[in-house]
Amino acid sequence: MLKIGLIGLGKMGRYHLNLYGDIREAEVAGICDADADAVAEISARTGYKGYTDYRELLPHVDAVTIAVPTKLHYEIAKTCLEAGKHVLVEKPITTDFSQASELFEIAVSKKLILHIGHVERFNGAVQEIKKIAEKPRYIEARRIGPFNPNFRGDSIVLDLMIHDIDIIINLMGSRVKAIQAMGSPVYTELADFASVNLAFENGSIAHIYVSRISQTKERVMSLHGDRSLIQLDFTTQDINIYRQGQTQQVLGDGEMRYRNEFVHERLFVYKDNPLKLEIMHFINCVTGKVSRVVTVEHDLESLKVALKTDELIRAGVYGQREIER
Ligand SMILES: NC(=O)c1ccc[n+]([C@@H]2O[C@H](COP(=O)([O-])OP(=O)(O)OC[C@H]3O[C@@H](n4cnc5c(N)ncnc54)[C@H](O)[C@@H]3O)[C@@H](O)[C@H]2O)c1
Repeated sequence: MLKIGLIGLGKMGRYHLNLYGDIREAEVAGICDADADAVAEISARTGYKGYTDYRELLPHVDAVTIAVPTKLHYEIAKTCLEAGKHVLVEKPITTDFSQASELFEIAVSKKLILHIGHVERFNGAVQEIKKIAEKPRYIEARRIGPFNPNFRGDSIVLDLMIHDIDIIINLMGSRVKAIQAMGSPVYTELADFASVNLAFENGSIAHIYVSRISQTKERVMSLHGDRSLIQLDFTTQDINIYRQGQTQQVLGDGEMRYRNEFVHERLFVYKDNPLKLEIMHFINCVTGKVSRVVTVEHDLESLKVALKTDELIRAGVYGQREIER
């Protein structure tokens, strides 16, 4: 049985904690938070041994989930990896590319699993779409929701858009060649909405719109292929496919009539809790049952593109920039 330590018992940490309770292959061997009251409250409720210093937890566990504020990910993940522990760290892994590369180098050299919590990869609809998407030419993503003051200090790109960047890179199967990015602040000092175009080396294009100033919540993606349109809803985990049938233009009595026929399929998607599937994947990687669903190179590419996009928006540089290799 794999012994798990949970570091960070805020919103995400508690979500992880609740799910570990349902997973037979792992047991929570300790929990940690810098806030002693949070540790005492959860320890009293669950019986898990609590710590306020994560270093004291490490000798008792094989693997950790790190769900602390992003600025602490590098330091804590590095200490855990150097102590020989497998790591599931919430996204974004860091806000510095060289720090992320260093963490993966340590993990590879010590033969440890380092998994970044890109939970949307484990959304049932995302798993299915990878099987059916044939060379998308254009992908459009919208991730919008109302303002939440808890995320006031977070970059909208590293908080929200990174999910779409990560999935789109995976679907395109190509590297990003150039980025155009625009964003603007409304409620915070940072951009609260952003519109981004990505050009890929294989000629395909993506457009992503994210916003935290909307009145409604929407998380959707459309994939445009040669003869099909695939629409995915992240919230309902539904996939609709429209395949081209016949298009006809008929000249009638003085007017042009247009007829379009298409075939509509609604795909069956196995729907489970994406975070639970992600934790299971981490555990199965640690125990050697499966290999990683994405490569280290893919993880680093998603971070590189997200950081470059964030930099362009912060600098107010709207023009096209070649991504440095
Ligand atoms: N995957 C997703 O979709 C998703 C969604 C939301 C947040 N996140 C990420 O999860 C991470 C945590 O976010 P959150 O919303 O849970 O934050 P939060 O502020 O609710 O929780 C962070 C917790 O870490 C604790 N902490 C701070 N310093 C610590 C230390 N040195 N040792 C131990 N504990 C410490 C805090 O006391 C707090 O309880 C962030 O990196 C965030 O980007 C990911």
